[in-house]
Amino acid sequence: MKTTNDLLSRIQRLMPAGVQPMFKSAEELMAWQQEEGRKRTAELEKQNQRARSEKIFGRAGIQDLHKHCSFSNYQVDNAGQRKAMSMAKSYAHNFGTGFTSFIFSGNPGTGKNHLAAAVGNYLLHHGHTVLVVTIPDLMLRVRACYDGDQSEAALLDDLCKVDLLVLDEVGIQRGSTGEKVIINQVIDRRLSSLRPVGILTNLNHPELSATLGERVMDRLQMDGGMWVNFDWDSHRKNVRHLRAVK
Ligand SMILES: Nc1ncnc2c1ncn2[C@@H]1O[C@H](COP(=O)(O)OP(=O)(O)OP(=O)(O)O)[C@@H](O)[C@H]1O
Ligand SMILES: [Mg+2]
Repeated sequence: MKTTNDLLSRIQRLMPAGVQPMFKSAEELMAWQQEEGRKRTAELEKQNQRARSEKIFGRAGIQDLHKHCSFSNYQVDNAGQRKAMSMAKSYAHNFGTGFTSFIFSGNPGTGKNHLAAAVGNYLLHHGHTVLVVTIPDLMLRVRACYDGDQSEAALLDDLCKVDLLVLDEVGIQRGSTGEKVIINQVIDRRLSSLRPVGILTNLNHPELSATLGERVMDRLQMDGGMWVNFDWDSHRKNVRHLRAVK
């Protein structure tokens, strides 16, 4: 420490007048080095998470189909869409202040994936890790664990490490016990380690409760958890109509 201080004071004597040194003591220099080291470790951890998610799902983050989705290209034509957009925006802007989860529930083609991807793209842009995965895709990976080189525990571990995990198409294959167990395990593990989950589903509240169980439902809605109803007509019809008019 003494030699570092000596070195710093020698450098200071050589500096032209008016130039402020970045560090005045060895302690300040060490604190800076430690902070830089901490930042580098956090960045490496994020890079690892991305690499692991790429290895498991062949991609990191958001499916190609929804990479272009943002808040600015979400069209608002009714009060429901306005509310959904404002809730999704507020979720993205407040991310990290708690561990709130969200559930987007409703009709096909109403923009659940669009707004979830808008949240995800915003978070990715702000340095968070995000993974959107459909339940059928997740089940494929779980099954692959049985004859592959990865254990199911390691897969669950990876799913629990991303900052935001969005489970898409929850309830499409209702009834399979194995699937319910996996979904429950993933949600339970994440919520226990204070990591949020997003759920996209066509099921309504009682149907989702029956699929996930009351306990998981309660935990998802704890700490200001968001439930957003998407109860308007499909946007896909508009797109088809526009194509027909052209
Ligand atoms: N309000 C909107 N403004 C612009 N594009 C929209 C809007 N709503 C939906 N879309 C677009 O319509 C398509 C279907 O939307 P999306 O995939 O988000 O529906 P979804 O609610 O997830 O449907 P599903 O329940 O069938 O999965 C997407 O290409 C999406 O970008
Ligand atoms: Mg969808």
